[in-house]
Amino acid sequence: MRIAIASDQGGFCQKDLIIDFVRGLGHEVEDFGPADAGRVDYPDFASPVAHAVSEGRADRGILICGTGIGMALTADKVPGVRAAPINRPDFARLFRQHNDGNVIGLSGRFVAPMDNCELVRIFLETDFDGGRHCQRVEKIMREDAR
Ligand code: RB5
Repeated sequence: MRIAIASDQGGFCQKDLIIDFVRGLGHEVEDFGPADAGRVDYPDFASPVAHAVSEGRADRGILICGTGIGMALTADKVPGVRAAPINRPDFARLFRQHNDGNVIGLSGRFVAPMDNCELVRIFLETDFDGGRHCQRVEKIMREDAR
């Protein structure tokens, strides 16, 4: 898959490791920055990743900030994006199986790098269950048009 990734200063220290991990799983990665650990406004980096997913230039997005919350909040406002902050493996699995999540928000401050890699692995390797979850996800996406 094509994976878009970005961070802010709270996630920068994990970004390169996660990029290497994702490439190691066989995916193509586009790094939307930042290029250093300087202070930035996280929406400026979450938005391009969300639009890459929304416009079909990326299949999934990975965002890493201090908590994973602010970047996920930003991304989820972009039509076609289903983003959430995720910090435990069972939520990563259910985010894919039930919500068909396409952008994950990770915490660079409160979750260890290897634990985030496991969340990413689950996020990238778990399929949407479909079935009864289809109409629920469709109802979520109707909110884009309101
Ligand atoms: C930046 O200080 C911090 O607010 C950000 O990394 C993130 O945690 C926001 O949700």
